[in-house]
Formats: sequence, C-alpha cells, structure tokens
Amino acid sequence: VIVTTTVEKLREQITTAKRSGKSVGFVPTMGALHEGHLSLTKLSKNECDLTVVSIFVNPTQFGPNEDFSKYPRTIEQDSSMLESVGTDILFLPDKETMYPTGAATFVTVDGVTDYFEGEVRPGHFKGVSTVVASLFNIVIPDIAYFGQKDAQQVAVIKKMVKDLHFPLRIVIGETIREADGLAMSSRNRYLSSDERQKSLTLSKTLSLVQDLIVKGKSFEEALLEGKRFFAKTGEITLEYLDLVDSETFARAASFKEAESITALIAAKVGTTRLIDNVVITKP
Ligand code: PAF
Repeated sequence: VIVTTTVEKLREQITTAKRSGKSVGFVPTMGALHEGHLSLTKLSKNECDLTVVSIFVNPTQFGPNEDFSKYPRTIEQDSSMLESVGTDILFLPDKETMYPTGAATFVTVDGVTDYFEGEVRPGHFKGVSTVVASLFNIVIPDIAYFGQKDAQQVAVIKKMVKDLHFPLRIVIGETIREADGLAMSSRNRYLSSDERQKSLTLSKTLSLVQDLIVKGKSFEEALLEGKRFFAKTGEITLEYLDLVDSETFARAASFKEAESITALIAAKVGTTRLIDNVVITKP
C-alpha cells in the first residue's frame, strides 16, 4: 500500500490512474480498523481498479465531551491490515491538510439529522458531512463505500450526494458481526470483558424486535417488548430504541409509511456508547 499524506500527491496518483481508464473506489475511515472496514475495502477491490482508503480522526465530528483524544489510533496495524487486502493507496492527511487555517465552510444536511445520533450528538453530522464532502472533492471516486452499522450516517451521506450532485455512487456494506452477534465497531475495544458480555443486549434486542414485527406484531408492541427485554437484561443504559423510515429517518408506526424500516438502538455500556441497527423488510 502506498501511503500518501498530501492532497497534491494524491490527486497526481488518482489522475494518472483515471487517465489510463481506471475506476476509483474509496473507503473513508477513522482508522482502528476491523473486519467491517476490510469488508468495504474488499468490495471496492472487487468493483474498482484502484482502491483508496483514508484514515483521518475527524475532530469536527466529536463533541466537547466525547472521545476524540482517546479514540484508538493504531496506524501500524491498520496499514498492515489494508496491505493484506490489497489496498492501493492509504490517504493519511493531517488536520491542517483537511482543515486549512481559517477553514470556515461546513456542509449541513437538515431533516435526516434531527433525531437519534443527531440529537444525542449535536454537531456530529455537520462534522461528518463536511469532512466527507471534502474527501469526496479530493478523491473524486467513482464509488464510495460506507458501512450499514452507522445507518443514520448512511442516510445523511446519501442525501448529501443526491442534493449536491456529487458525481459518484454510494455502496453500503452490511454490518459485520462477531460470532455472538456484537456489531463490529472501533469503540468495542473500550469494553471490559464484563461490558463486552453486557453489550450483547443491543443485538439481542434488535433481533427480538425484528422477530416480533416479522410475526405480525404492531411496531408499538414490538418496541414495548424490546424495551422490556432490554430493561430486564439490564445494567446498561438505553438511549433509544426506535423504528424509522430507512431513507428519511422519520419515526415509522407501520410499514404503510415506508418502503424499508430500520430498527435503531443506542445504549451506554459503562462509559462507552454503542449503536446498532437492523433493516426490516415488509413481511
Ligand atoms: O464512519 C466513519 O468512520 C466516519 O464517520 C467517516 C465517514 C470516516 C467520516 O469521518
């Protein structure tokens, strides 16, 4: 893998590839890579001629009391993982490269960011859409890959790409889970073994809600039972459990209101916030 730190150098490499007719796949990340990121990189390798992965822990998407400074930075390990799946270019910009002195331009996506992560983490999506728009302008990929694990982020990016006419396609990779169901996340490494065990309640609750809905229970009943189950398994704090239209992220009370429904969950396990989701199709 070629490591590139400047916009100029990266543009040179990408222009050369495009001139020889190569398609470009892009996987933006914040590092602390796991199988989820690698699966996106593999999708890009299968579909595109040149695969670019970026690692940048984006300060603007962290709130003042969030984990920016302790966010895991594991660059050595990340680059060998990227190497093992045949990544062509690792873009590793520093803060001054992504946010030149005095940078004052932001991208905000309204509506879809109103609730859930947008509500619990004010400013988070503004940071995400701004850095992703900037990365898209630097890389100009044919296809950009994101994980379903961050379902609301997916909805935000899709909306931004549509509204601002970014000339690229978004491909979503499925959530990759540990054998016991825990959704892979860079933040899982904060969990003690006891917390790791307790965090299984998130995926179990989502499975329960999904089963109930597939069996024909109303959304209201399914959520109620889900919350009851969560509270019983306990010792972790539920922030939200809800059912939304997968595209608009508006709360949905039945399948009549949406083509595809996403069940969302967020909880605090000790000091670690975890999120998970599952897409439910009309039975
Ligand atoms: O999903 C992430 O890792 C980040 O939110 C992203 C898309 C790389 C933007 O910083």
